[in-house]
Amino acid sequence: MDIYENMIDAGEFIKSRINLTPETGIILGSGLGDFADEVDNSVVTPYDEIPHFKEVRVKGHAGNLVTGIIAEKPVAVLQGRYHFYEGHDIKDVVFPVRVLCSLGINNLIITNAAGGINAAFTPGDLMVITDHINLMGENPLSGDNDERMGPRFPDMSTIYNSAMSEKIISTARSMSISIKSGIYAGLRGPSYETPAEIRMLKTIGADSVGMSTVPESIAAKHMGMNVAGISCITNFAAGITDQPLDHKEVTETADRVKEDFISLLTRVISII
Ligand code: HPA
Repeated sequence: MDIYENMIDAGEFIKSRINLTPETGIILGSGLGDFADEVDNSVVTPYDEIPHFKEVRVKGHAGNLVTGIIAEKPVAVLQGRYHFYEGHDIKDVVFPVRVLCSLGINNLIITNAAGGINAAFTPGDLMVITDHINLMGENPLSGDNDERMGPRFPDMSTIYNSAMSEKIISTARSMSISIKSGIYAGLRGPSYETPAEIRMLKTIGADSVGMSTVPESIAAKHMGMNVAGISCITNFAAGITDQPLDHKEVTETADRVKEDFISLLTRVISII
Protein backbone atom coordinates (compact mmCIF):
# COMPACT_ATOMS: atom_id res chain seq x y z
CA MET A 1 0.00 0.00 0.00
CA ASP A 2 1.18 3.54 -0.65
CA ILE A 3 0.98 6.49 1.75
CA TYR A 4 -2.37 7.65 0.41
CA GLU A 5 -3.91 4.22 0.89
CA ASN A 6 -2.36 3.92 4.37
CA MET A 7 -3.83 7.32 5.24
CA ILE A 8 -7.30 6.23 4.10
CA ASP A 9 -6.90 2.96 6.02
CA ALA A 10 -5.92 4.75 9.24
CA GLY A 11 -8.70 7.31 8.73
CA GLU A 12 -11.32 4.60 8.26
CA PHE A 13 -10.13 2.86 11.43
CA ILE A 14 -10.50 6.08 13.43
CA LYS A 15 -13.89 6.91 11.88
CA SER A 16 -15.15 3.48 12.93
CA ARG A 17 -14.39 4.36 16.57
CA ILE A 18 -15.85 7.86 16.74
CA ASN A 19 -19.28 9.30 16.10
CA LEU A 20 -18.41 12.85 15.09
CA THR A 21 -16.57 14.53 12.24
CA PRO A 22 -13.74 16.64 13.65
CA GLU A 23 -13.33 20.12 12.18
CA THR A 24 -10.28 21.38 14.00
CA GLY A 25 -7.03 19.53 14.57
CA ILE A 26 -4.55 20.38 17.31
CA ILE A 27 -1.01 19.07 17.75
CA LEU A 28 0.24 19.38 21.31
CA GLY A 29 3.91 20.11 21.87
CA SER A 30 6.27 19.20 24.73
CA GLY A 31 4.71 19.77 28.12
CA LEU A 32 1.38 20.88 26.63
CA GLY A 33 -0.25 17.45 26.49
CA ASP A 34 -2.66 18.22 29.35
CA PHE A 35 -4.82 20.15 26.92
CA ALA A 36 -6.21 16.78 25.87
CA ASP A 37 -7.93 16.56 29.29
CA GLU A 38 -10.19 19.41 28.16
CA VAL A 39 -11.83 17.26 25.50
CA ASP A 40 -15.41 16.29 26.40
CA ASN A 41 -16.94 12.96 25.35
CA SER A 42 -13.42 11.94 24.47
CA VAL A 43 -12.36 8.83 22.64
CA VAL A 44 -8.67 8.13 23.25
CA THR A 45 -6.87 6.01 20.68
CA PRO A 46 -3.22 5.16 21.40
CA TYR A 47 -1.05 5.63 18.31
CA ASP A 48 0.13 2.05 18.47
CA GLU A 49 -3.47 0.88 17.84
CA ILE A 50 -3.85 2.97 14.68
CA PRO A 51 -2.81 1.20 11.48
CA HIS A 52 0.43 2.54 9.96
CA PHE A 53 1.30 4.83 12.91
CA LYS A 54 4.86 4.22 14.12
CA GLU A 55 5.80 3.31 17.68
CA VAL A 56 6.34 6.28 19.99
CA ARG A 57 9.97 6.52 21.06
CA VAL A 58 10.28 9.51 23.38
CA LYS A 59 9.71 8.95 27.09
CA GLY A 60 7.18 11.32 28.58
CA HIS A 61 5.48 12.01 25.26
CA ALA A 62 2.07 10.36 25.32
CA GLY A 63 1.08 9.16 21.90
CA ASN A 64 -2.70 9.39 21.68
CA LEU A 65 -5.26 10.64 19.25
CA VAL A 66 -8.00 12.23 21.35
CA THR A 67 -11.27 13.06 19.61
CA GLY A 68 -14.32 14.74 21.11
CA ILE A 69 -15.74 18.18 21.80
CA ILE A 70 -14.06 21.40 22.90
CA ALA A 71 -16.09 24.62 23.13
CA GLU A 72 -18.94 22.84 21.33
CA LYS A 73 -16.68 22.10 18.37
CA PRO A 74 -15.66 18.62 17.21
CA VAL A 75 -11.89 18.28 17.47
CA ALA A 76 -9.10 15.77 16.97
CA VAL A 77 -6.07 16.28 19.19
CA LEU A 78 -2.69 14.71 18.56
CA GLN A 79 -1.31 14.31 22.08
CA GLY A 80 2.34 13.73 21.32
CA ARG A 81 4.11 13.78 18.00
CA TYR A 82 6.81 11.95 16.07
CA HIS A 83 10.04 13.94 15.91
CA PHE A 84 12.50 13.66 13.06
CA TYR A 85 15.38 13.41 15.55
CA GLU A 86 13.97 10.15 16.89
CA GLY A 87 15.10 8.56 13.66
CA HIS A 88 11.69 8.31 12.03
CA ASP A 89 11.36 8.70 8.31
CA ILE A 90 10.16 12.26 7.61
CA LYS A 91 7.08 10.82 5.89
CA ASP A 92 6.16 8.98 9.10
CA VAL A 93 6.63 12.21 11.07
CA VAL A 94 3.85 13.87 9.04
CA PHE A 95 1.60 10.82 8.59
CA PRO A 96 -0.70 11.73 11.54
CA VAL A 97 -1.28 15.17 9.96
CA ARG A 98 -2.33 13.53 6.72
CA VAL A 99 -4.70 11.25 8.63
CA LEU A 100 -6.26 14.27 10.37
CA CYS A 101 -6.89 15.75 6.93
CA SER A 102 -8.52 12.50 5.77
CA LEU A 103 -10.92 12.78 8.74
CA GLY A 104 -12.18 16.04 7.23
CA ILE A 105 -10.22 18.57 9.26
CA ASN A 106 -9.75 21.98 7.62
CA ASN A 107 -8.11 23.94 10.39
CA LEU A 108 -4.95 22.76 12.09
CA ILE A 109 -3.33 24.42 15.10
CA ILE A 110 0.24 23.24 15.70
CA THR A 111 1.93 23.94 19.02
CA ASN A 112 5.48 23.46 20.19
CA ALA A 113 8.03 24.38 22.80
CA ALA A 114 10.77 26.61 21.42
CA GLY A 115 13.84 28.57 22.43
CA GLY A 116 13.54 32.36 22.25
CA ILE A 117 15.99 34.15 19.96
CA ASN A 118 14.28 37.53 19.68
CA ALA A 119 15.65 39.80 22.43
CA ALA A 120 12.12 40.90 23.30
CA PHE A 121 11.06 37.34 24.21
CA THR A 122 11.24 35.84 27.69
CA PRO A 123 10.51 32.27 28.80
CA GLY A 124 6.77 31.86 29.29
CA ASP A 125 5.83 34.00 26.27
CA LEU A 126 3.58 32.60 23.58
CA MET A 127 4.50 33.33 19.95
CA VAL A 128 2.20 33.01 16.97
CA ILE A 129 4.23 31.58 14.09
CA THR A 130 3.97 33.89 11.08
CA ASP A 131 6.46 31.97 8.93
CA HIS A 132 9.18 29.37 9.26
CA ILE A 133 12.67 28.52 8.06
CA ASN A 134 13.22 24.86 7.24
CA LEU A 135 16.70 23.90 8.42
CA MET A 136 15.96 20.23 8.96
CA GLY A 137 17.84 19.16 5.86
CA GLU A 138 14.73 17.27 4.78
CA ASN A 139 11.30 17.93 3.32
CA PRO A 140 8.31 15.63 3.85
CA LEU A 141 7.33 16.05 0.19
CA SER A 142 10.59 14.73 -1.25
CA GLY A 143 10.27 11.72 -3.53
CA ASP A 144 7.34 10.89 -5.77
CA ASN A 145 4.36 13.20 -5.40
CA ASP A 146 0.88 11.75 -5.05
CA GLU A 147 -1.53 14.20 -6.69
CA ARG A 148 -4.39 12.73 -4.64
CA MET A 149 -2.83 14.42 -1.60
CA GLY A 150 -1.61 17.66 -3.13
CA PRO A 151 0.45 19.35 -5.85
CA ARG A 152 4.10 18.64 -6.69
CA PHE A 153 5.18 22.22 -5.97
CA PRO A 154 2.86 23.63 -3.29
CA ASP A 155 2.99 27.35 -2.61
CA MET A 156 4.42 28.15 0.81
CA SER A 157 4.14 31.94 0.64
CA THR A 158 1.19 31.90 3.03
CA ILE A 159 1.88 28.68 4.91
CA TYR A 160 0.54 30.06 8.21
CA ASN A 161 -3.02 31.26 7.72
CA SER A 162 -3.17 34.97 8.54
CA ALA A 163 -6.88 35.01 9.45
CA MET A 164 -6.35 32.24 12.01
CA SER A 165 -3.20 33.90 13.33
CA GLU A 166 -5.01 37.23 13.72
CA LYS A 167 -7.78 35.49 15.66
CA ILE A 168 -5.24 33.92 18.01
CA ILE A 169 -3.58 37.29 18.61
CA SER A 170 -6.83 39.20 19.19
CA THR A 171 -8.21 36.45 21.41
CA ALA A 172 -5.04 36.44 23.53
CA ARG A 173 -5.20 40.22 23.88
CA SER A 174 -8.85 40.09 24.91
CA MET A 175 -7.86 37.63 27.63
CA SER A 176 -4.86 39.74 28.74
CA ILE A 177 -2.52 36.93 27.74
CA SER A 178 0.74 38.36 26.43
CA ILE A 179 1.30 37.19 22.87
CA LYS A 180 4.17 37.75 20.46
CA SER A 181 4.54 36.82 16.80
CA GLY A 182 7.54 35.78 14.78
CA ILE A 183 9.46 33.35 12.61
CA TYR A 184 10.21 29.81 13.75
CA ALA A 185 13.40 28.08 12.66
CA GLY A 186 13.01 24.30 12.57
CA LEU A 187 16.24 22.37 13.12
CA ARG A 188 16.82 18.67 13.09
CA GLY A 189 18.13 18.37 16.67
CA PRO A 190 18.36 16.56 19.00
CA SER A 191 21.32 18.53 20.35
CA TYR A 192 20.42 22.07 21.25
CA GLU A 193 22.04 24.78 19.17
CA THR A 194 25.42 26.35 19.81
CA PRO A 195 25.60 30.09 20.54
CA ALA A 196 27.16 30.59 17.07
CA GLU A 197 24.23 28.79 15.48
CA ILE A 198 21.79 30.98 17.38
CA ARG A 199 23.63 34.11 16.17
CA MET A 200 23.31 32.77 12.62
CA LEU A 201 19.59 32.08 13.11
CA LYS A 202 19.08 35.61 14.44
CA THR A 203 20.90 37.02 11.41
CA ILE A 204 18.68 35.14 8.99
CA GLY A 205 15.54 36.39 10.70
CA ALA A 206 14.46 33.70 13.15
CA ASP A 207 12.68 34.67 16.38
CA SER A 208 12.35 31.20 17.86
CA VAL A 209 13.93 27.80 17.35
CA GLY A 210 12.76 24.24 17.78
CA MET A 211 12.88 20.69 16.45
CA SER A 212 9.34 20.11 15.18
CA THR A 213 6.37 21.76 13.41
CA VAL A 214 8.04 22.57 10.07
CA PRO A 215 7.43 19.16 8.42
CA GLU A 216 3.87 19.04 9.79
CA SER A 217 3.05 22.53 8.49
CA ILE A 218 4.44 21.68 5.05
CA ALA A 219 2.40 18.47 4.82
CA ALA A 220 -0.77 20.21 6.06
CA LYS A 221 -0.36 23.00 3.53
CA HIS A 222 0.34 20.41 0.83
CA MET A 223 -3.09 18.93 1.57
CA GLY A 224 -4.80 22.32 1.54
CA MET A 225 -5.40 22.74 5.26
CA ASN A 226 -5.43 26.10 7.04
CA VAL A 227 -2.49 26.04 9.43
CA ALA A 228 -1.71 28.14 12.49
CA GLY A 229 1.25 27.66 14.82
CA ILE A 230 1.94 28.71 18.39
CA SER A 231 5.32 28.39 20.10
CA CYS A 232 5.59 28.37 23.84
CA ILE A 233 8.93 30.09 24.46
CA THR A 234 10.32 27.84 27.16
CA ASN A 235 13.89 29.11 27.43
CA PHE A 236 16.35 31.68 26.14
CA ALA A 237 18.10 30.13 23.12
CA ALA A 238 21.75 29.12 23.58
CA GLY A 239 24.15 31.97 24.26
CA ILE A 240 21.40 34.58 24.86
CA THR A 241 22.16 34.16 28.57
CA ASP A 242 24.98 32.29 30.34
CA GLN A 243 22.62 29.59 31.53
CA PRO A 244 23.09 26.13 30.01
CA LEU A 245 20.08 24.60 28.25
CA ASP A 246 18.19 21.86 29.96
CA HIS A 247 15.13 19.89 28.88
CA LYS A 248 13.85 20.25 32.44
CA GLU A 249 13.58 24.01 31.96
CA VAL A 250 11.58 23.39 28.79
CA THR A 251 9.00 21.21 30.52
CA GLU A 252 8.88 23.39 33.65
CA THR A 253 8.17 26.55 31.66
CA ALA A 254 5.56 24.79 29.53
CA ASP A 255 3.96 23.60 32.76
CA ARG A 256 3.92 27.14 34.15
CA VAL A 257 2.06 28.64 31.18
CA LYS A 258 -0.16 25.63 30.64
CA GLU A 259 -3.29 27.22 32.08
CA ASP A 260 -3.12 30.35 29.92
CA PHE A 261 -2.30 28.21 26.98
CA ILE A 262 -5.25 25.88 27.53
CA SER A 263 -7.74 28.73 27.99
CA LEU A 264 -6.41 30.52 24.91
CA LEU A 265 -6.64 27.41 22.72
CA THR A 266 -10.15 26.65 23.98
CA ARG A 267 -11.35 30.17 23.16
CA VAL A 268 -9.66 30.12 19.75
CA ILE A 269 -11.29 26.80 18.85
CA SER A 270 -14.70 28.26 19.69
CA ILE A 271 -14.29 31.05 17.12
CA ILE A 272 -12.49 29.48 14.17
N1 HPA B 1 16.24 24.85 20.84
C1 HPA B 1 15.66 23.88 20.12
N2 HPA B 1 14.53 23.31 20.48
C2 HPA B 1 13.93 23.72 21.61
C3 HPA B 1 14.48 24.73 22.41
C4 HPA B 1 15.71 25.33 22.00
O1 HPA B 1 16.26 26.23 22.65
N3 HPA B 1 13.64 24.91 23.47
C5 HPA B 1 12.62 24.03 23.29
N4 HPA B 1 12.78 23.32 22.17
